[in-house]
Amino acid sequence: MQPSGQSIALIGPSGAGKSTVGVGLAQALGWRFIDLDQLIIERAEKSISDIFSQEGEAGFRERETAALVQALQTDQAVIACGGGIVLREINRQLLREQAWCVYLTSAISTLVKRLTADQANPRPLLASDINEQLVIQLAERLPLYSTLANWTIQTDGLAPQIVVEQLIRAWGLVGKPQVSEVFSSFNSRYYVKSGALAALPNELANLGLTGTCWLISDSHVGPMYAPTLIQALENSGFSCQRYDIPAQEASKSWQQAGELYTWLLENGVQRGDTVLALGGGVVGDLAGFIAASILRGIAVVQLPTTILAMIDSSIGGKTGINHPRGKNLIGAFHPPRLVLIDDAVLSSLPRRERAAGWAEAVKHGVIADAQLFADLEQAGASLNDVPAKITSDLLVRSAAVKIGVVNRDERETGERMLLNYGHTLGQAVEAATQYKRYVHGEAVAIGMTFAANLAVQLGMWSSAEAERQRALLQALELPTALPRDLDIEATLAALNLDKKRAKGSVRWVLPTRIGHAQVESHVDPELVRKLVHELVEQT
Ligand SMILES: NC(=O)c1ccc[n+]([C@@H]2O[C@H](COP(=O)([O-])OP(=O)(O)OC[C@H]3O[C@@H](n4cnc5c(N)ncnc54)[C@H](O)[C@@H]3O)[C@@H](O)[C@H]2O)c1
Repeated sequence: MQPSGQSIALIGPSGAGKSTVGVGLAQALGWRFIDLDQLIIERAEKSISDIFSQEGEAGFRERETAALVQALQTDQAVIACGGGIVLREINRQLLREQAWCVYLTSAISTLVKRLTADQANPRPLLASDINEQLVIQLAERLPLYSTLANWTIQTDGLAPQIVVEQLIRAWGLVGKPQVSEVFSSFNSRYYVKSGALAALPNELANLGLTGTCWLISDSHVGPMYAPTLIQALENSGFSCQRYDIPAQEASKSWQQAGELYTWLLENGVQRGDTVLALGGGVVGDLAGFIAASILRGIAVVQLPTTILAMIDSSIGGKTGINHPRGKNLIGAFHPPRLVLIDDAVLSSLPRRERAAGWAEAVKHGVIADAQLFADLEQAGASLNDVPAKITSDLLVRSAAVKIGVVNRDERETGERMLLNYGHTLGQAVEAATQYKRYVHGEAVAIGMTFAANLAVQLGMWSSAEAERQRALLQALELPTALPRDLDIEATLAALNLDKKRAKGSVRWVLPTRIGHAQVESHVDPELVRKLVHELVEQT
C-alpha cells in the first residue's frame, strides 16, 4: 500500500534526532509537529515512566497505537514516533498506509552520547546500561525500521538543519506518492528506496497493473537481479516472463525489437500486461519502445539500474531505438507508470558506468542547479567509489532537475532542449566511433567540454566556470578531449545529421553561468569546425 495521507512519520532509535528534526521539518513545511510520546502523556494525563510502572510495556503499547491513530488523522503533520513504534504489526501497517516514513539512524556511540546528555527525557526501557540495552533493542528493531522506511538518513555528524534540508528535497520528489504532481500529465510516479525492488509486486498492485509481467533485462543485469525479482512477483501471484537482450548499445535495433515483438506475441501478450524494463538506458529505451508499440501500447515500469538511467533516461517518457542513420531516430513518447529506483543495485555497477552516469548529473548542475554542481565538485572522485554515502541524495536532486524540466516542457518544444547540453557533439562523436568507443556519458562529457569552449568563445560564459566544469569531469575520470585518431570529418558530418537541427542550423545548448544555459541556433559553422579541431588532445 502507498501512504494515502499527508503525514511524515520519523522513525528510528531513541537519540537519532527525531524530535529535533521533526520540529525543524514541521516549521519548514508549515505543518504541525506531533511528538507521539507527548501525545500519549497528554491523553493518559501521566508520565511515560508512570504508565510503564503502572501498566507495564503492554499498556504503554496500547496507548501508543491509540495515539498514533489520532496523530495520523491530522493532515500535514510531522510525527516523531517512539523508538518502539515498529514493534507492533498494527503500527507498522498504519504507518505504511498513512505516512511517509523517514528512518533516522545513527551509530550506537552517537545514540549513547545523545541519550546520556538528554537527562530531561528518561527512557524507561533504557534505564540501566544504555549501551548494552541499545544493542539488544536495535538487533530487533533495525530490520523493522529499514523495511518500513520510505527514506533513510544517517544523522551522525549532520546538523539537524541539514537533515531537514535533505528531507525537504526528498519529500518534494518522492514523498508525494501521487507523482502525477512530479510527472504532471504523465501520470507516472518516481520512487527511490534502497531495497525498493522488493516492493515491486505491491507497487504494481497499487497501480492496478495485475496482468502478466514481461521482464526485459540485459545479459549483465538479468542474471544478477531478475531471478529474485521474478520470485517476489510470483510469490505475490503475478505471472512473469523474462527476456535478456545482449548488453550493448547495438541492441537498440530493429532486429532486436522484432525479436522482442515475436517473443511477446508468441507467448500471448495482452493489453492489460506490463513491460518491466530492468537495466540501464539501453534496456529502458528499447523495452519502453516495445511497450509503446506492441498492441498499440501497454504499460511500462522502468526499473533503472545505472546512474544514467536513474537520473536521466527513465524520466520523461522518451523511448526509442537507433537507426543506421543515427541514434534514437525511431521512437515514441511513452511515459512509464512507475520509475522504481533501488540504489542498492549500484553496488555492482562498473566504475566506468558510474562515472558516465555522473556526467549527466554534471549536465543537470550546469544547466539548472548551481548547488548540485557545487556538491558534485565537493564529492569529486569519491562519487565513483562503492558505496558512496551521498549517492542517493545526489541522485534524487539530479533526477529532480530532469523531472522539473520535463514537467514544464514534456514534448521538447522549449526548455527541455536544455537537457541536450553536451549531446550535440557527444552524439556525433558516438556516431563517428560507431557507438563502440565511448559509453554515452563519456561522449556527453566531451560534448559538454566542447559546448563550454564554444560558449566561452562566444563571450557567453566565463572561462573560469568552464574550467570548473572541465576539472569536475576530469575528477570523475571522464574524457574532455577528442582522441587524435578520431575521424574529424565523420564527426562533423554526423553533427549535421543531428535531429536537433532547426531550419538548417544546429541548435547548441550553451551555458551562461553554472546553473543556467540557453539554446543558440546561430553559431558560425566555421567556428564549430575550428573548435572541434582544437578539442583534439595534444599529446
Ligand atoms: N530516453 C532518454 O531520455 C535517454 C536519455 C539519456 C540516455 N538514453 C540512452 O541510454 C543509453 C545509455 O544508458 P546506460 O548508460 O544506462 O547504458 P547501458 O544500458 O548500456 O548500461 C551500461 C552497462 O552497465 C551494465 N549494467 C547496468 N546496470 C548494472 C548494474 N546495476 N550492475 C552491473 N552492471 C550494470 C549494462 O549491462 C551495460 O553493460 C543510450 O542508449 C542512450 O541513448 C536515453
